[in-house]
Amino acid sequence: MNKNFIGGEWIDGADAADNVNPSDTRDVVGRYARADAAQARAAIAAAHGALPRWAACTPQQRADALEQVGNEIAARQAELADLLAREEGKPLAEAKGEVLRAAHIFKFFAGEALRVAGELLASTRPGLSVEITREPVGVVSIITPWNFPIAIPAWKIAPALAYGNAVVFKPADLVPGCAWALAEMLSRAGLPPGTFNLVMGRGRDVGDTLLTDPRVAAITFTGSQDTGRKVARASIERAGPMAKFQLEMGGKNPLVVLDDADLDQAVACAINGAYFSTGQRCTASSRLVVTQGIHDRFVTALVDRLKALKVGDARAEGTTVGPVVDASQLAQDTDYIEVGRREGARLAFGGRAFEALEGRPGFYLEPALFVEADRAMRISREEIFGPVAAVIRVRDADEALAVANDTEFGLSAGVCTTSLKSAAHFKRHLQAGMVMVNAPTAGVDPHVPFGGRKGSSHGPREQGRYAVEFYTTVKTAYVNP
Ligand code: UN1
Repeated sequence: MNKNFIGGEWIDGADAADNVNPSDTRDVVGRYARADAAQARAAIAAAHGALPRWAACTPQQRADALEQVGNEIAARQAELADLLAREEGKPLAEAKGEVLRAAHIFKFFAGEALRVAGELLASTRPGLSVEITREPVGVVSIITPWNFPIAIPAWKIAPALAYGNAVVFKPADLVPGCAWALAEMLSRAGLPPGTFNLVMGRGRDVGDTLLTDPRVAAITFTGSQDTGRKVARASIERAGPMAKFQLEMGGKNPLVVLDDADLDQAVACAINGAYFSTGQRCTASSRLVVTQGIHDRFVTALVDRLKALKVGDARAEGTTVGPVVDASQLAQDTDYIEVGRREGARLAFGGRAFEALEGRPGFYLEPALFVEADRAMRISREEIFGPVAAVIRVRDADEALAVANDTEFGLSAGVCTTSLKSAAHFKRHLQAGMVMVNAPTAGVDPHVPFGGRKGSSHGPREQGRYAVEFYTTVKTAYVNP
């Protein structure tokens, strides 16, 4: 039994749940505690109590703790990647990449802990000066999704701790394994008890408490738009002061392919962006917006590449696309494939679901490609979160840009072109937080800002130096010596 970590101690849950392997549902990864609301409140109280001691630690002590965790993640890359692939279904090679990314994030923020700077200005009033400094926000609730079981927890927990906050962390119900492993490493990193707390459990028990307790000063959340709105409402409507909140809520990311694109490169970007990680990335390229001069060649080449992908057990040799994460996500994916057909798009490849592959019962789905999709169709507008992409044929670059921006989301957007002029034009006018030129819309660096516009995001950016905005609060001091 893997317990919760509250106030520096390992605590049994109010109940527990099995963590099941989506590549083979007979395989139980482990049993994990589930806290109730009272235990979540105890974790918040512990975090609140730990704040003064953590704030009193030197930046070097904070840096050392984070560096230790980063080094251990890197040293245990193979083991953690296997756990990640087993509980989430991400193919092993991608899982290894994600684990290494988590290690790099901890090390990056170890350095940042030592670089928290302020500003000193002259006042407009004679004799005074103005000091601008950053202080920790306080207790931070961290609520993470299942699709990046170690990287997203890392990119929220590491900056929260680096800047002196105390953390209450609730991972997604489906992937407690990596979260628990991370908590176990943090439990040995020399943090004052209560500085970091792991509270696995259901949204309605743990999640709701993490949103509504007035001792929580800030809430960072990655997940769906519906839950994001709930986080926002709770942050504002709860008793006591409002919480600061930061939301990442998905995307409907376009990859534009222009007539002058390098065909092989464009196809590689589409395969990676749309189908790697089984399409379960908020940065996935689910809309392929293709100009008519290259359209037919692009579709033919893409279908050829799709035939070469191998769907299978995430940990099996040669697998390029793992299973969908669970039964309800698979039902959502196959529903959308039905919706696409009914709306009149043509399924050019895949889309069949399998209850078992090579004798393993799991949630398998062939990557699906729709062509002749229209920008108004639901498959072109709603986030599917599976290995399903749709090609929208357009006349020219102007129409491509208009279609690319015709979405309520704005996380990531890509363009494939060999023209410097077109690249510059799209880079400037794509309405997204992240723009990729001749690169996949998904798969981001750990040291630069991550986040979107429009319905995709709310609040300051995550990652890189920009993370300081959310995890600190600014103090302006006027000093009359
Ligand atoms: C990536 O594309 O490398 O939930 C990261 C998600 C995003 C992370 C994507 N927040 O899919």
